[in-house]
Amino acid sequence: MTGASSGLGWRFARILAACGAKVAIAARRAQRLDQLTAEIRAEGGVAEPFALDVAAVGGIAAVVDEIERRLGPVSILVNNAGVPDAQHATALTLEKIDQVIDTNMRGAFILSTEVARRLIAAKTPGRIVNIASMAAFEYSGGAAALYSVTKSALVRMTETLAVEWAKFGINVNGIAPGVFASEMTDGMFARMSDQMVSAFPRKRIGRPEQLDGALMFLVSPSSDFVTGTIIKVDDGQGSR
Ligand SMILES: NC(=O)c1ccc[n+]([C@@H]2O[C@H](COP(=O)([O-])OP(=O)(O)OC[C@H]3O[C@@H](n4cnc5c(N)ncnc54)[C@H](OP(=O)(O)O)[C@@H]3O)[C@@H](O)[C@H]2O)c1
Repeated sequence: MTGASSGLGWRFARILAACGAKVAIAARRAQRLDQLTAEIRAEGGVAEPFALDVAAVGGIAAVVDEIERRLGPVSILVNNAGVPDAQHATALTLEKIDQVIDTNMRGAFILSTEVARRLIAAKTPGRIVNIASMAAFEYSGGAAALYSVTKSALVRMTETLAVEWAKFGINVNGIAPGVFASEMTDGMFARMSDQMVSAFPRKRIGRPEQLDGALMFLVSPSSDFVTGTIIKVDDGQGSR
């Protein structure tokens, strides 16, 4: 579970643990991970923290080795780590462009292949869930052009890897959230909350727990025949 140190990932880790999964929680901020680990353990769950920068060159395979050593083989991967661009395309520095692409897309691709390689070798089935965004499907301006590009790539990655790995029993699906409360969106709301929310048909933003059902479906036996699909969870906030 990447990006577990805040926002949606924090919730995903807790719900997976509450449902009995042994959860490897990964992100860069180790202190946050220790805090989440303590919370999960206090509720009777099993969790281990792993410092992981998905955008770093190298290192991903070593972290998966360590996860397997401490928790056993990985059977579910949630690619949730993500960063916004929050600037107009012409204002993006090369460093920012690399960070957004490497976190949202490259890291998810490398981690997926790392986990799939091990599942295929062990001849065991698995589930991969990519946290995309409604921004993959719609863009009406603002400052998220590159973010939208990377999320579209994540959707396409979901489709192509699902086809490539179907014969190995690995289901690859995604969730495209609309606007949910999290650290990523806090700053945005501080700037334009009323204006944005009043444009939504139900005048509300999502709470992380409103993604529980989609995640649980995609990692449970109920979705055995579902692969290469994106579930849009956006309360009708966006267009179709
Ligand atoms: N909130 C929304 O409205 C919304 C809507 C659509 C899609 N999403 C997607 O949902 C996912 C979670 O976002 P959020 O809203 O929960 O935002 P958030 O609170 O900012 O969480 C982002 C998470 O990603 C981690 N992360 C960032 N860069 C990383 C890196 N290089 N390596 C490892 N972890 C990294 C962060 O942890 P560290 O900083 O500790 O590394 C943090 O845990 C993202 O992919 C986002 O694009 C969110």
